[in-house]
Amino acid sequence: MTIQWFPGHMAKARRQVTEKIKLIDIVLELVDARIPISSRNPMIDEIVSSKPRIVLLNKADMADRGITKEWMAYFKDRGITALPIDSQSGTGIKDILPACKTALKEKFDKMASKGIRPRAVRALIIGIPNVGKSTLINRLAKKNITQTGDRPGVTKAQQWVKVGKEMELLDTPGILWPKFEDELVGLKLAATGAIKDTILNLQDVAVFALRFLKEHYPDRLMERYNLEEIPEDIVPLFDEIGKKRGCMVSGGYIDYDKTAELVLREIRSVKLGPLSLERPEKTSEE
Ligand code: G4P
Repeated sequence: MTIQWFPGHMAKARRQVTEKIKLIDIVLELVDARIPISSRNPMIDEIVSSKPRIVLLNKADMADRGITKEWMAYFKDRGITALPIDSQSGTGIKDILPACKTALKEKFDKMASKGIRPRAVRALIIGIPNVGKSTLINRLAKKNITQTGDRPGVTKAQQWVKVGKEMELLDTPGILWPKFEDELVGLKLAATGAIKDTILNLQDVAVFALRFLKEHYPDRLMERYNLEEIPEDIVPLFDEIGKKRGCMVSGGYIDYDKTAELVLREIRSVKLGPLSLERPEKTSEE
């Protein structure tokens, strides 16, 4: 899926999300558990300020469990409930409704005291492209009701999808954009596969990823690529990996593009194990 970066698209996306928010009780903000800040829209607080919100750390199966716990504490400190989930397998999904009910208790109690009959919680899933919105909607609805990815230009009436008896979801998620003008955010999004490889230089993304692995996951790097030690500089590290994996061009030189592609493919397919590319104390917000 291509992300459209034009300001006009952003304004439209924001308008559409604002319209949807009027219809619901609670926002389910989906972020990538591996990069919970970089995969958020920077203006999310302002955009959804009128409604309670739960942060869903999706793709938790691909993230470092210990770091995900730190993120949960990070959000808790800021008064936000964050739940780790895996929309593909369904892990953690059952915790969503109880968390929504807790967040909405006051509102629903008030409605009950006014004699309004209890009704299902109305929720909107919101998040940047590729974060797993369609997968989660399908998982919650237990059927294939939305196409994965968005379909620009297609407008249709809002529809509610039932999630058991106590919850209803808008069938089309709210799509927002990440803070792509920040280079580091772009590199993290690209390393996780959230943005297309054609947007950023593949070697730049691989250099970023390898430097990160070298600092935070040196053992996994050594094990995966059979390295006795990790070279200090990045070029010899590329050389080692390229050589070990046969990413060569004629003349015995290393094919850097092929090596970069291999490393990124393996990171994205969890061949180096679950990784978190962002840690609470390392975000630009702090
Ligand atoms: P979107 O609507 O927010 O744009 O995202 P979408 O559901 O299309 O999900 C993007 C990709 O992320 C999909 O993979 C999807 O299967 C995967 N995904 C979503 N949630 C999870 C999760 O919790 N864990 C893991 N491991 N993967 C998840 P894809 O390769 O683009 O498509 P496909 O091969 O699954 O069809």
